[in-house]
Amino acid sequence: MVRTSVVAGLGAWLPAGVVTNDDLGRELDTTDDWIRSRTGIGRRHIAEPGVATSDMAVEAGGRALKSAGVARADAVVLATTTPDRLCPATAPLVAARLSLGPVPAFDVSAVCTGFLYALATARGLIAAGTADRVLVIGADTYSSILDPGDRSARAIFGDGAGAVLLRPGEPDEPGALGPVLLASDGSGEELISVRSGGSREPFRRETAADADPYFRMNGKAVFRGAVERMSQSSRQVAEESGWTADSIDRLVAHQANLRILHAVADRLGLPRERCPVHLDRVGNTAAASLPLALADAVAARRLLPGHRTVLTAFGGGLTWGATALTWPDVQPA
Ligand code: COA
Repeated sequence: MVRTSVVAGLGAWLPAGVVTNDDLGRELDTTDDWIRSRTGIGRRHIAEPGVATSDMAVEAGGRALKSAGVARADAVVLATTTPDRLCPATAPLVAARLSLGPVPAFDVSAVCTGFLYALATARGLIAAGTADRVLVIGADTYSSILDPGDRSARAIFGDGAGAVLLRPGEPDEPGALGPVLLASDGSGEELISVRSGGSREPFRRETAADADPYFRMNGKAVFRGAVERMSQSSRQVAEESGWTADSIDRLVAHQANLRILHAVADRLGLPRERCPVHLDRVGNTAAASLPLALADAVAARRLLPGHRTVLTAFGGGLTWGATALTWPDVQPA
């Protein structure tokens, strides 16, 4: 009998520093009107220099434990594309700083789909009996990999961290993770990438002048892929849950761009109000996007216990996915 995973805690953390569109406009050739009309984003939180992904992950992870009313977890799965260092993984440090003892802790790298991949991995640990309570964290410090002169990327991305605690439970209880769909298409590798600093193009002091250490994205192609894949995968997990697409109460989608969220809702025949919007205040926070959007929607009472909820994301890799659950009575801490 495979053990079911249930969402038991939720935590969110944003750095204090806020950068508005007008702030960006004073530094780059852009305007509040351009950014708002193309993306729906009004501001984003940016980590102070010296604040790393683990710092934010510890904050969000600790809050998810508190929300679940527990002091410990048996494993930590951290989704991030901006680890503290290339080596080692960031999750062991997070586990140590949360005083979790010698628990398994590792990073999952699936860019903006990372949180869904981490959730599915944690579910697997619980199903196999490797762990009972798993802390699943999405944390990213995109400000550390953005080109200061790239007005398109700087308009979109923000920093932050979010987390959920999973515990074993019954398939029919609120919070039980239903079907999970994960997918990838590596032929789209170039659409979202950081070229230099990996094994393909190692960082070398001698060739540093030719290196490109920054995040690059083909925004238009990504836009189309995100709409297509998030709507397809949402429809599929809804159907596998026995729901028609238009009976989804809340579609919590990766907060990439307001026009993407609207296009996905329209394709599924859902009123747009059923897609909670958080990106207006935080931008695209990559792996942190889904848990932060969940925490925001719950705190605003836009996501309520009993809501038929679909989570979906799309990101670099390319990767995408979705899962479905009935939202439980869980409040963010
Ligand atoms: N302010 C003003 N102009 C800007 C700008 C900004 N912040 N960012 C880009 N532009 C300019 C471009 O330089 C370009 O100018 P040009 O025609 O003179 O070269 C023009 O706007 C159009 O650029 P383009 O990239 O084609 O714009 P777009 O309408 O596709 O919007 C994005 C750009 C990034 C907002 C949009 O493509 C997008 O949101 N894509 C999805 C990105 C995403 O969600 N990624 C994460 C998914 S995981």
